[in-house]
Amino acid sequence: MPLPRRWLSILLIAAMLAIAMAAYLMWEPAIAPVAPPAPASFDRQRVLRGAQVVAQGDCAVCHTARGGKPFAGGLPLATPFGTIYSTNITPDPQTGIGNWSPEAFTRAMRRGIARDGHQLYPAFPYIHFTRMSDDDIAAAYAYLMRRDPVQTRTPANALVFPLNFRPLVAFWNVLFLRPGPQAADTSRSAQWNRGRYLVDGAGHCAACHTPLNLIGGEKWSQAFEGGVIDGWEAPSLAALAHGAVPWTAPELVTYLRTGVSSAHGAAAGPMLPVTRELGTVPQADAEAIAAYLLDLRKPAPRQAGPGSAPVDAQAVQRGQVLFAGACASCHGDRSPMQQFGDRPSLATSSAIHATTPRNTIQMILQGVPWEGEDALHFMPAFHQALDDRQIADLTVYLRATYSRLPPWNDVAQAVTDIRKGDAPQ
Ligand code: HEC
Ligand code: HEC
Ligand code: HEC
Repeated sequence: MPLPRRWLSILLIAAMLAIAMAAYLMWEPAIAPVAPPAPASFDRQRVLRGAQVVAQGDCAVCHTARGGKPFAGGLPLATPFGTIYSTNITPDPQTGIGNWSPEAFTRAMRRGIARDGHQLYPAFPYIHFTRMSDDDIAAAYAYLMRRDPVQTRTPANALVFPLNFRPLVAFWNVLFLRPGPQAADTSRSAQWNRGRYLVDGAGHCAACHTPLNLIGGEKWSQAFEGGVIDGWEAPSLAALAHGAVPWTAPELVTYLRTGVSSAHGAAAGPMLPVTRELGTVPQADAEAIAAYLLDLRKPAPRQAGPGSAPVDAQAVQRGQVLFAGACASCHGDRSPMQQFGDRPSLATSSAIHATTPRNTIQMILQGVPWEGEDALHFMPAFHQALDDRQIADLTVYLRATYSRLPPWNDVAQAVTDIRKGDAPQ
């Protein structure tokens, strides 16, 4: 039964009042600007600790544009709702956070509110940073305020309506932000608590390793059960099941700090910069993370059950030929990479043992970018050199040759989808 007109307008007005009221209740004041603190005013030890906190939190990874100055922002982050650019967090007073007081910085980290009171988008993982201690937040502030100021403006975001209306984030926060640090669990060891603190707080591991719901919130009921980020699969940390052999604490520590594990292969895609940052934090912190991760583990889900396709022998053969030509110079047994580099064999690769071909395909499409002079940790991107069919054949070949698992279904379709949807830059 249609509602009479008058009722409709009453409902409309009531809804608008409710929204206005909520917006008013959630409204956040500006925090007064301060003169940029003198660099010498920060305690040296605190700045050094801040460097570690900033590494744990990957601040430079997100806040540095490709080829740009560190922390000056401008890196585009692709989200299902459009592109968000990271901001300038150098101490430049006009375009960075130079005139932010410690209180303003702490509020941003704990509640995602900028100094002038506007809501920040949760692409900035404050829902995790909120777990950091006051001390660690103060140390990160000291470290950032000691950087060289860079004057540069962040490009405007390109978000879909209505998400370009920032106050809406306040509603999102009601659902997904539980502000403040976590109490220690006294029934567990100090190492376990430290691991949980780093994983849930600065490390924001769940931001990638947990599936997201339709409005971009983490599904807490499936915490750490694996997500997709920038087209890569961030495998389940609650299973840690990909790979020929189970993970051990020493292998996890080596993987997290060097990006390579002789029993599981190498970190690539969005995980590679995480490991480069973790390489600079104390060994004890990586050990704590490993201890916590091993404790998160639940019984592994079964790999591809019945119904998986038979091996496509012709694809395997085509893949083998391609592999000999394009890949064996590095991945072959006697290649310089294997001989001088002692790199893990493809038979250990998590990507090749995963439930989906996603990361193997991404690996071939994107390779491992050149960094510094590390020739042993470089793989060219093949997204231009090879077509979809060739990449599918190589993927089928790798699975058949380097794992004992059943073949993946629909590899060709997956290649096309990955290239089209979440394709590399
Ligand atoms: C996953 C990417 C990502 C990581 C990691 C990240 N940030 Fe950000 N950060 C962003 C984005 C994106 C914004 C801008 C959000 C917006 O405009 O609403 C932002 C905004 C901020 C702001 C607000 C600045 C302003 O001008 O409004 C501060 C402060 C900040 N980040 C500090 C940090 C610190 C400190 C770390 C490390 C502990 C960090 N961020 C790690 C993505 C990230
Ligand atoms: C920016 C997204 C992102 C963040 C943040 C992130 N990861 Fe990852 N992680 C990934 C992706 C993607 C992969 C798969 C990469 C690959 O296989 O080369 C991965 C792989 C891993 C693996 C290997 C799993 C396996 O089965 O081979 C471990 C272990 C891991 N991450 C732990 C962590 C921990 C611990 C943290 C927090 C300190 C973390 N990750 C933060 C994206 C992320
Ligand atoms: C210039 C050397 C080079 C070439 C050529 C090369 N790769 Fe790689 N590949 C690497 C490096 C380096 C890694 C990262 C692993 C490491 O650091 O040991 C890697 C990793 C991989 C991985 C992920 C393994 C893991 O650790 O999970 C796959 C899959 C892969 N390569 C497939 C290929 C395929 C297929 C080709 C040919 C189309 C190819 N590679 C060509 C150097 C190379």
